[in-house]
Amino acid sequence: MTARTDDARIRATWDANATAWTDAVRGGRIESRRVATDAAIVAACERQPHGPLLDVGCGEGWLLAALADRGRRDRYDALVDDASRCAGPWRTIVCNFALLDADLVPVLRALRARLAPDGALLVQTVHPWAALGDARYASAWREERWQAFGDAFAEPMPWYYRTLGDWVRALGDAGFGIARLEEPVHPDTGRPLSLLLQCRSA
Ligand SMILES: C[S@@+](CC[C@H](N)C(=O)[O-])C[C@H]1O[C@@H](n2cnc3c(N)ncnc32)[C@H](O)[C@@H]1O
Repeated sequence: MTARTDDARIRATWDANATAWTDAVRGGRIESRRVATDAAIVAACERQPHGPLLDVGCGEGWLLAALADRGRRDRYDALVDDASRCAGPWRTIVCNFALLDADLVPVLRALRARLAPDGALLVQTVHPWAALGDARYASAWREERWQAFGDAFAEPMPWYYRTLGDWVRALGDAGFGIARLEEPVHPDTGRPLSLLLQCRSA
């Protein structure tokens, strides 16, 4: 797939699944979010100094609502291509399970250009070891078929599975260094659920 078709496919899928996704998130039906990853990204945002915060690929907007409930008012959401509202500079930019494309370096560079000099990029993504299954450990396109949700989702979602090494490489190629790496785990099983990367301009 070319970068342009990837983008169009991902966008069309999310448009088709918007209602099902909103119901799943607001109904607390995604266990990993309920038990660990929502709290992890909220805590990571709260550790950042106050200042404008941008949530890129914000979905139905739960994260900004959670931060508002905790008194953080300087926050904005954005579709990935909403450039006019995204000029920045931002103190914090968050991508919570929102970097789904194969070719990430251009979007990461664009985000770096919009960060304040002391700003941080927070990326939470599926833990590559948790999502590996029986597949080879190599970056590749995959499809989420939403099997746990019955017929609610209209379209399978294409997403690019990335190894830990390829995450580090993409961030480095975009000019980011990793200041902190967390691995939220399932509280009962101890299995890793996500990678949470706090990045700064290198
Ligand atoms: C798994 S959802 C996460 C939503 C939200 N950040 C959250 O934590 O609930 C992925 C989001 O990324 C957005 N997204 C990622 N890549 C995109 C693209 N190329 N075009 C349009 N939307 C994209 C989708 O619209 C969707 O809202």
